[in-house]
Amino acid sequence: MPLERITDEEELERVLTEPTPELIEFISGVSSPLVILGAGGKMGATVAVLAHRAAAAAGHPLEVVAASRFSDPIVRTRLDDRGIRTRHVDLLEPASVAQLPDSENIVSLVGLKFGTTENPSLTWALNTLAPVHMVARYPSARMVALSTGNVYPQVPLDSRGATEDLALTPLGEYANAAVARERLFEYAARRHGTRIAIVRLNYAVELRYGVLMDIARNIWRGEPVNVANGGFNCVWQGEASERILRCLGLATHPPEAFNLCCPEILSVRDVATRLAAELGKKVAFTGHEASTALLSNPAKLEARLGGLRTPLDHLIRWTADWVKSGGRTLNRPTHFEVRDGRY
Ligand SMILES: NC(=O)c1ccc[n+]([C@@H]2O[C@H](COP(=O)([O-])OP(=O)(O)OC[C@H]3O[C@@H](n4cnc5c(N)ncnc54)[C@H](OP(=O)(O)O)[C@@H]3O)[C@@H](O)[C@H]2O)c1
Repeated sequence: MPLERITDEEELERVLTEPTPELIEFISGVSSPLVILGAGGKMGATVAVLAHRAAAAAGHPLEVVAASRFSDPIVRTRLDDRGIRTRHVDLLEPASVAQLPDSENIVSLVGLKFGTTENPSLTWALNTLAPVHMVARYPSARMVALSTGNVYPQVPLDSRGATEDLALTPLGEYANAAVARERLFEYAARRHGTRIAIVRLNYAVELRYGVLMDIARNIWRGEPVNVANGGFNCVWQGEASERILRCLGLATHPPEAFNLCCPEILSVRDVATRLAAELGKKVAFTGHEASTALLSNPAKLEARLGGLRTPLDHLIRWTADWVKSGGRTLNRPTHFEVRDGRY
């Protein structure tokens, strides 16, 4: 049963990395080492520590290697402290990729979203070169490659969300470069016979960043909440990470894509109203709900791995508590209100 409240970062990280029985069973069949690439970002530590804890619970001697440039050295120190082996890698440089340890199990979290408008060439370089380098380094591995629900065009708000067979015709350079990231993983996989599961994630949320935190902070500061993008899907980062790891078992050749998010289309207006009630604040809105939004349908993945377990009520209460008590944030807004694809 989820906790009523999460009071500090230590507790937050413990909750985010609590392994499920399904993951503990799955991880006992994962050969060592498990290599996580692009581990220096918002999700890397959760995925790495969760894998480490699951292996410990299974009594399985799995070494978890987290590799990134570690632009934020604090992330590296935290991982080292938790028994994760960290490695510096620049995935744009083949010579650096060649130094990575051999492995049959790879999770790629590598990505770049914000700043695409100012420096689109870097986003395109990362999303096209890095997949080719990673697959060439690990041709016989099974791999989970993170993608995003941004690869889809906006779909009607009253639909059940985009399914994996929808044509990938999104708006804006970031999203089109994310399509290229998938296509280059596929291209390289076909060339080498590599097994890959492509995971199209919509809004991971935890208490230091995410769309719930963004809405809650607006309300807490007395700023209006923009409802132009009227709906969204999200997923608790702990559960997203659990799914990402278990997707290693869904890696196939040729690669297949899976949406990862909650099945409910959440209304920004409803969620903001519920957050405001928890925060004891009034909420003001700006904009009008457009008839479309970026929405995904996770039925295909749920049929393989089962449903999510963390109720929205808990996420709302935890987020409101965190904001009220001045909990630390990463200061990385999601810009969930963006509709023109410019990030
Ligand atoms: N978080 C979400 O809500 C969300 C939603 C949809 C999709 N996704 C996808 O899920 C994945 C993980 O999400 P995230 O939030 O953790 O992403 P993130 O915060 O952007 O982390 C990705 C990390 O990749 C590393 N990286 C970038 N260039 C690199 C290079 N040349 N060599 C090695 N590492 C490099 C960076 O860390 P260093 O600077 O340390 O190298 C970066 O922080 C991303 O691919 C993203 O597209 C996430």
